[in-house]
Formats: sequence, structure tokens, C-alpha cells
Amino acid sequence: MAVLSLGKTAACRPSRVRGFDYPQELLVDSHDVQSDLKHVLYTKEDIQRRVNELAAEIDSDYAGRDLLIVGVLKGAVMVMADLARALHSHVTMDWMAVSSYGSGTQSSGVVRILKDLETDLMGKHVLIVEDIIDSGLTLSWLKANLLSRGPASVEICTLLRKPEAAKVNIDVKYVGYNIPNEFVVGYGLDFAEKYRNLDFIGTLAPHVYE
Ligand code: IMP
Ligand code: MG
Repeated sequence: MAVLSLGKTAACRPSRVRGFDYPQELLVDSHDVQSDLKHVLYTKEDIQRRVNELAAEIDSDYAGRDLLIVGVLKGAVMVMADLARALHSHVTMDWMAVSSYGSGTQSSGVVRILKDLETDLMGKHVLIVEDIIDSGLTLSWLKANLLSRGPASVEICTLLRKPEAAKVNIDVKYVGYNIPNEFVVGYGLDFAEKYRNLDFIGTLAPHVYE
């Protein structure tokens, strides 16, 4: 795994985005964001490359079958958007929101459905798309929940997994990267709802959550 030092430009929101001048008050303070982060784990380019590889595998595994991809809000928004656009097969998309964390960094294991699917899963091939599997408690609960709705199959695709943090054994068909047991943010992943908009994945400096 490439661990890069957070360069000056990595977390910066440019003051000019694609030629438009943004008012200063709308800009993320790049110095604040940078000082909250420790390392860049995966750059935008790393993520794009890996997501494209996963999409190619999924295309080939589900060839000739209709697939419903289910994104878990809000963390999986970025990976769903990039994965869906990299898939060449027909897919339908739906979303669920579940809560497993407050604003802390430890999984509670208590899962609540905040937003349910609009799709009837009966007879469908379902692929749950997640940002990260930490303890695995959320996903094992979610997989069992979706399996109880009569689908043809339910598999899981996650961009990140922390094998050392696993509290339950869960079968994950597609994993982008296995990462150490450290809190990460960016590319959909938040800490207290912040940092989701970063286009890379980085580790959070301990002073932010201690
Ligand atoms: P689990 O139930 O412990 O597997 O946690 C699942 C959820 O916790 C993920 O979908 C994330 O929303 C959140 N989570 C776990 N680890 C991290 C992390 O390192 N950064 C940000 N969110 C995390
Ligand atoms: Mg999530």
C-alpha cells in the first residue's frame, strides 16, 4: 500500500475551480483540512484504477444477468457513482441508509434502517456497495436483512476493508483495498460528517478525534 506524505497540494481546494472564481467564504480552508490529516493512503488516481478493475470483474461475473447495485448512504455515494459509470452492463441502482455510528470512531453494532430500498428484491441479483467494512457488523446485518427478501443472490463490494478490525466473519466478494486498523476519511468517508468531499483517502490525525 502506498503511504504518501500529505503534500501541500493534496488536500487543497483550489480557489479557482475550472476557471470559475469562488467567493473566499465558500472555500474549504485548505490549511485546516491538511492539519487534520496524517497521510494520503490512496490518491484519486489509485482509487479510479482500482474501481475500474472491480467494475471489470463485476461485469464479467454478472454477464447475462440483471444486477441491482445497492449503495449504502452516505459513505458509498462516491464509490457507487464511479463504479456504476465504469460498468458496461445494464444495472439498476437503489439506496439504503443505515446507522451504525454516531460521530465516534467505534462501531456500535446497533443497526437501524433510516431509508429503505424502493426495489422489490424478489428473484434479483443484488450487489451491496459499501465504502468500508470495519467490524463487519453493519454489513453482516444488512446482508441477512436483504437475503430475507427473497433475492436470487446477495454479494458485497467494498472499496476498503480493515481485516484486523473484523468482529464477524463475512463473505465479501469484491474488495478494493485491505487497510490497517486506522480511521480513514475522504472519498465518501466521514468523521462527524466532514471530509466526505475529499477526492482521495487519508488517515485522520489523532488530535482530531482524541
Ligand atoms: P462496521 O459495522 O464496523 O463494519 O462499520 C461500518 C460503517 O462504519 C462504515 O460503513 C462507515 O460508515 C463507518 N466506518 C468504519 N470505519 C470507518 C473509517 O475508518 N472511517 C470512516 N467511517 C468508518
Ligand atoms: Mg458506510
